[in-house]
Amino acid sequence: MSHLEQGLGDRAEQSARRTLQDMIHSRMGRRQMLGGSLGLAATGLLGASIASCGQDTPKPAATDMTRGKLTPNFSDTISTLPSAALLAFTSVPAILDQTFDAVAVPPGYAARPFFSWGDPVVAGAPSWQADASQTADDQQLQAGQSHDGMVYFPMKDKPDRGLLAVNHEDLEPLTLHPSGPTIDSSGLRPLAEVRKELAALGVSIIEVRKNAAGAWERVTDSPYGRRITGTTPMDITGPAAGHPSMRTLADPEGRTVLGTLNNCASGRTPWGTYLTCEENFYNVFTNKDPTDLKARREHRRMGVKTTSSYAWETVEERFNVTPRLDLPEQGYVNEVNRFGWVVEIDPFDPLSVPKKRTAMGRFSHENVACSMTEDGRMGLYMGDDARAEYIYKFVPRNQYQAGVTRGELLDEGTLYVGVFNEDGSGEWVELQHGRNGLTRVNGFKDQGDVLINTRSAADHVGATPMDRPEWVAVNPFTRDVYVTLTNNSNRGLDPDRNAINAANPRPKNLFGHIMKIVEDAADPTAKTFRWEIFVLAGDPSLEASNLQGNIKGDLFGSPDGLWFDKFGRLWIQTDFDDSTPEYTKSIGLNMMLAADPVGREIRRFLVGPKGCEITGVTSNPDSTVLFVNVQHPTLSYPASDGVTRPRSTTVLITRDDGGVIGT
Ligand code: FEO
Ligand code: CA
Ligand code: CA
Ligand code: CA
Repeated sequence: MSHLEQGLGDRAEQSARRTLQDMIHSRMGRRQMLGGSLGLAATGLLGASIASCGQDTPKPAATDMTRGKLTPNFSDTISTLPSAALLAFTSVPAILDQTFDAVAVPPGYAARPFFSWGDPVVAGAPSWQADASQTADDQQLQAGQSHDGMVYFPMKDKPDRGLLAVNHEDLEPLTLHPSGPTIDSSGLRPLAEVRKELAALGVSIIEVRKNAAGAWERVTDSPYGRRITGTTPMDITGPAAGHPSMRTLADPEGRTVLGTLNNCASGRTPWGTYLTCEENFYNVFTNKDPTDLKARREHRRMGVKTTSSYAWETVEERFNVTPRLDLPEQGYVNEVNRFGWVVEIDPFDPLSVPKKRTAMGRFSHENVACSMTEDGRMGLYMGDDARAEYIYKFVPRNQYQAGVTRGELLDEGTLYVGVFNEDGSGEWVELQHGRNGLTRVNGFKDQGDVLINTRSAADHVGATPMDRPEWVAVNPFTRDVYVTLTNNSNRGLDPDRNAINAANPRPKNLFGHIMKIVEDAADPTAKTFRWEIFVLAGDPSLEASNLQGNIKGDLFGSPDGLWFDKFGRLWIQTDFDDSTPEYTKSIGLNMMLAADPVGREIRRFLVGPKGCEITGVTSNPDSTVLFVNVQHPTLSYPASDGVTRPRSTTVLITRDDGGVIGT
């Protein structure tokens, strides 16, 4: 029994430990668990990775897809296609085999592993070692773990040569180290392990190209190859920059922070930069003073606890956010306030300093979906993935101007939170200091304070709690906004806020749903909208009517990744525990599907290996290649040999005839 495990005394922690063990059993499978360090895993060092973890319709006319002939979202990227051609592939059957260790795609398609944890990113980086013996310094130059959101940026005038930016959401500690994470007899994590863990998070930027033989490859000596990790210096910009609640012992100005953490999904700006989103960062910090934690809302409301997932604080003091009254700025009490933001990265400038854009709010950011009118008015939609959290929209003050606008556009504007009324109407309520009760007398000192405490501000204005908002996607033809509400199977945890409502109608929402929001006049800056449920996921063969759903087509649950391609095809990716009994009956392993947003038919396109979630999808401009991420597989993918340790992997999908994907 490890030192940390001995420290787990009270009943809540014992029960948390049991749950973790159960989940580790199901997530990792028995074979790996025996080889790893279960003691450490059970004490919570795996906590963050677990916490992150979610016909015959008549065909409408093609003109429906260009309803009202609206201006496309990104005018250079859409391409009209008759609705009937949206799902022109043979559906992949659900895979119920719990030993499946590959990626299944339709007949006529191929899926090959392309970019896995440990692959070289920076020119000259060492290769991955099958025994995980690479050092922290090696890892700093190689792909991180838990691939998630991702965007392909074509090179100017060379569409089949581009940069791929890939998020690394979390650690897979049992595979990262030769025999799992360790802790010494005095309760300290080895510094070399912690450094390697910080280096395995963040973002990878790689160059990719179609070679002369027509095959896609990574450009291993590219000058663009870059790792951004948990220690990369970055700037804090916008209203919370320099705020007293952003200052620490190491950064008394409150304007520079080391690293981005738990980068879940992402977004692309019209000016060609990458937006990466900090989600479950609170797990790696700890405030060990329960009284202070209770009183300090910027910690408590984000989920900071008296324990941490990886015990980094034992050797890296900034992860211990317990106030130190004897130190300037109370030590590192504010360090956790410097995470939970959207971070902008210019992939084409390897020397650029990433920027945390505080005007877009602080919460468990999932992704960012940009919507824009022809005259450059923008709305950026964002979900906060936790039970009973909210959907947000940021509207920049200034309009986008091609060739002029840079990221500073994201430093000034208005953050709104969604209210979903029972009658299908909705409002975006401003989170602006001095308005809607966000005043000093109600505990909000200034706009920086509102943004650092975005969730509390949203509580205050009466935002509608949702069933874990994950990705948002904007239809490029109509600017309709789609949001995955992945699931909410335990409303009892916070019964006051977490009750059912019209937009989240199922008492036990084990399979989740997808919502559609139609802004007034299709204007991304609108203050009011209409909403409806696009689909309730589920399995009609289950007895409980609450679990059956209303899917037209192939079954799925726990929708998470969501993305429109340029044809207006809605891609849906899933994240559920594939050992859950209600899922093993008909749904099987995690998958990606395509939906026709008009006819609402949904067809399964891909199934991933046991234990993974499927998350992150992007394509080249002509849509002949699709990049899709397999996150935390648990058998031996991508080697698929039953022996090699599994690795999160970007999978490259092509058609055998070189044609357009899905068509
Ligand atoms: Fe990182 Fe909410 O998924
Ligand atoms: Ca995940
Ligand atoms: Ca999820
Ligand atoms: Ca997700």
